[in-house]
Amino acid sequence: MHANPIAPAAAEDVEAAVQRIVRSTPARRMDLIPILQAIQAEYRYLPEAALRCVARELNIPPATVYGVATFYSQFALNPKGKWVIQVCNGTACHVRGAKRLLDALNRRLGLTENGSTTGDGLFTLEIVSCLGACGLAPVVVVGDKVHGQLTEEAIELLIDHLEAEEGQGEKVEEAGREVRSR
Ligand code: FES
Repeated sequence: MHANPIAPAAAEDVEAAVQRIVRSTPARRMDLIPILQAIQAEYRYLPEAALRCVARELNIPPATVYGVATFYSQFALNPKGKWVIQVCNGTACHVRGAKRLLDALNRRLGLTENGSTTGDGLFTLEIVSCLGACGLAPVVVVGDKVHGQLTEEAIELLIDHLEAEEGQGEKVEEAGREVRSR
């Protein structure tokens, strides 16, 4: 797994990863989407070097690969944070305070633009349209978890929790490094 999604992946690392992914498939043109999905699962976005390498490996024009990568909204061409926070601004959520949640998140994370990512690579904040859970409005999705009827206080607690979890993860990694270096 690529440690920091904000730091651009080195082109040679990307090439090696893409070759490994492509060669684990029948490497046909029709495998393009699953291959791109696997690359995105590894990097949380599609590095440019990866698109070029996929084109070479599948022997198809780079424009075709780029066209597919930009056509489907599931693919991101820029690095995303470890946690993608999607704030629904559909009608039901808008009426029930989505803007207040968004303002609270922007303030807390120091972000100003839709789709932007915190400098530490932890959070990406996105505004989305109806997520199909209007009965729970206002709705925020973090990763693959749906949080309904959220208040500004609850969203603050959620961020506290994720940051604390991240801190724990770092401590475990540090401890692991210490043990390995003994
Ligand atoms: S409007 Fe937000 S889930 Fe439908």
